[in-house]
Formats: sequence, C-alpha cells, structure tokens
Amino acid sequence: MAASGLFALTEEHEMIQKAARDFAQKEIAPIAAEFDESGDFPLKTIRKMGEMGFMGIEVPEEYGGAGMDTLAYVLALEEICKVDAAHGTIMSVNNSLFCNGILKFGTEAQKQKFLVPVASGEKIGAYSLTEPMSGSDAGTMRSRAVREGDVYVINGRKSWVTSGPVADVVVMFTMTEPEKKHRGVTAFLIDAHQPGYVHGKKEPKLGIRASATSEIVFEDYRCPVEDRLGEEGEGFKIAMAVLDAGRIGIAAQALGIAEAAYEASRQYAAEREAFGQKIGDFQGISFKLADMKTQIEASRLLVYNAALAKEASKTTHARFTKEAAMAKLFASETAMFVTHAAVQIHGGIGYSKELPIERYFRDAKITEIYEGTSEIQRLVISRLELGLR
Ligand code: CAA
Repeated sequence: MAASGLFALTEEHEMIQKAARDFAQKEIAPIAAEFDESGDFPLKTIRKMGEMGFMGIEVPEEYGGAGMDTLAYVLALEEICKVDAAHGTIMSVNNSLFCNGILKFGTEAQKQKFLVPVASGEKIGAYSLTEPMSGSDAGTMRSRAVREGDVYVINGRKSWVTSGPVADVVVMFTMTEPEKKHRGVTAFLIDAHQPGYVHGKKEPKLGIRASATSEIVFEDYRCPVEDRLGEEGEGFKIAMAVLDAGRIGIAAQALGIAEAAYEASRQYAAEREAFGQKIGDFQGISFKLADMKTQIEASRLLVYNAALAKEASKTTHARFTKEAAMAKLFASETAMFVTHAAVQIHGGIGYSKELPIERYFRDAKITEIYEGTSEIQRLVISRLELGLR
C-alpha cells in the first residue's frame, strides 16, 4: 500500500495509474493537438486503449473487462485526461455510461451480447438520453417506442450523443407511455448497424473536439423485446443511476485537465522571467498557483471519495448520488478556474496553439455542462440535503 493523502493506493492502483500515464505519454501526447485540430475520431488509439483494458475497467473479466475497482477506473481516466480530455470522454462514456448500465441492469444474455464486446474494446458504446427539446429536464423526451409483438418500433431524434457517429451499440432512453411522464420512460440496447438507425449531424464543438458528438435519428427502428434494458417504465431511474456513475468519470476528467494546466503553469512560473525576476516570485502569480493547487487537492478528495462510495455501493446498494454530484460540481468548476488562470499565467503563449494550455481551457468547459450542468448538480445536492428527494 502506498499513501496518497487520505487515500491508500494498492499496488494494483499504482500499476494501472502508471500504465495509463505511460500509455497517454507514448500514444496520445504525440497526436492530441492534431486530432483536436482536425476533429477526427482517434480510432487507432481507442482500439489500443481497449487492448490495455481501459475500456471496461470495472467490468469483471468474465465479461471482457479488467475486473478492477472504481478507484482504479478514476485513476486511469485522470491520467488519460491529463494528456487529452477527448480520449478521456470516449473512455468515460464507454466505461461508466455504457458498461455500468448493462452490468447493473442487464440480463445475462444482454451482458454476453452487448457488454463483452464493448468492455473488451472491440466495439464502442454510447449513451443517449438528451433530445433537442429535452436536456436538463430529461423526463420530457418526445421520442417514442411502440410495442408491436416481439419488437418495439422506435421513432425520434436524440442529440448530443458522445461517440454517436462511431458507436456500435447505444443504451437509449425513450418514452413507451408518455402520459406517465418520467415513469413512462424505458431503456433499450440499440445496435447501431441495424436499419432505422440514422446518423444525424455531427456537432462542431469548442473543446474535446476529437470525441465525436452527434444526433441520432430513429426511423422505425425495430428493437427486439429481449434488448429492452430493465422493465417498461424503469428507464428514467436507470438513466439517473447510470449518470451517478458517469458524473464520477467527468469529475475525474476535470481533475486530470486541471492537474495538467496547473503543472504547466507551475513550471512556467519557475522559468519565465519578467522585470528581472521569475514571474513565480510575484505574488500575483504565486498566490494564483496556491489557490489552483488547493482547489485541485480538494477536488481530488471529492473525486476519490465518490469513487469509494460507488465501490461500497456494489455491496450495500446504497446510492452515491450526492457524492458524485459534489465531486462533479467542484472538480469541473475547479477545472474552469485553473485553466483560466493557466492561460493568464502563460500570457500570449497560453493563448497560442503552440502549447496545449488553450486546449485545456476549451476542454474544461464541457465538464460544467455534460452529464448534468453545474446547476443540475446544485439542484441534486440541495434537494438531497433538504430532504426533498
Ligand atoms: N438514482 C435512482 N433514481 C433516481 C435518481 C438517481 N440518481 N435520481 C432521481 N431518481 C428517481 C426519483 O427517485 C424519482 O422516482 P419516483 O418516480 O419513484 O418518484 C424519479 O427518478 C424522478 O426523480 P425527480 O423527481 O428528482 O426528477 P426530476 O424530473 O425533478 O429531474 C433531475 C431530476 C436531477 C433534474 C434529472 O432530470 C437530471 O439529472 N437532469 C440532467 C440530465 C443529464 O445529466 N443529462 C446529461 C445526459 S448525458 C450527456 O451529457 C451526453 C453524453 O453522451 C455524455
């Protein structure tokens, strides 16, 4: 066991942390800027991440995963995101939004059919909840699934699907009984290579540009009844429970981005001179660094704590909604604060594409938005604190 502040990392944790760090340096660092610029999907490195076991870290080995715990997942994701948050997004959605849902709510047959190929990295998984008119208010979706014998016929438009253009399989949420509102939502496992799955527009994005995000249009897509995840009407709760896990991943991503921006700033402040001294000798810079470091360490405690809460829930079945929401809220706002300060510390060169600082700044913003905005996290936390949910 090695100590890391309050958290004792096992040898296994240190091994995956180092493996992810080495992989990110060797395979991702040389291509990150190029893929950010082009917006192309980095399929080759994602496949290699699958071979490394990074695409299904918490999935038991019998289902194609690495069979490790939530802290191992968080540590690996953090390392990938220190180098490139776009690779991190693809990894996070595959692990927490796709694999987790099937592991927790899927039948044995669904695990064999959908989980094994995605956890092993052979196929790419996605999660589709949002619609053009239903974002934060996720229970108001307009898409529909109508049962006809042994199939559900699905129609509608889903938006902001991470990995949408390249995903092979998607866990998708739609209305089966609209009059029941959120209690009429049902989850389905969708094969993206079947007729009726139509690729919609790809989003041109500010950050995490190499992670493809798109609309998906369902045009009389026929989903077999055995590919329904959970029972009819259970979809909203499944979506929320899966997002609890997802939010820990986004929090780890934000932590990784912030750490990268901080480390570059610390080094720059120790080297760059102005007015006859290192800029780190000016209090205007050194106090910024102190605040950045302190917020990062506070984020780390919240993120690792949420990971431990999720791990414990595997046996206690207790929800970890609040821990996940607090970790995401604080770590994402820290990532914005730290990357903003990092650009400022670097000055002109921080604004230039010659360094990754401006990319960290652009990539950080999404962590305050996807998988529940900061406002939604505050809603979730405050409702639980006030006993309103
Ligand atoms: N786990 C299990 N059940 C939960 C839950 C959770 N975390 N949160 C809520 N529920 C249950 C409630 O107990 C309630 O159950 P009953 O029907 O038995 O009463 C039900 O779900 C409805 O809950 P609420 O009354 O709290 O629902 P609400 O309409 O007020 O909405 C919300 C709650 C927190 C605002 C929710 O809509 C939400 O999280 N919105 C944000 C959605 C979001 O994060 N979207 C991002 C999508 S993914 C993405 O970004 C793209 C990508 O590819 C990464």
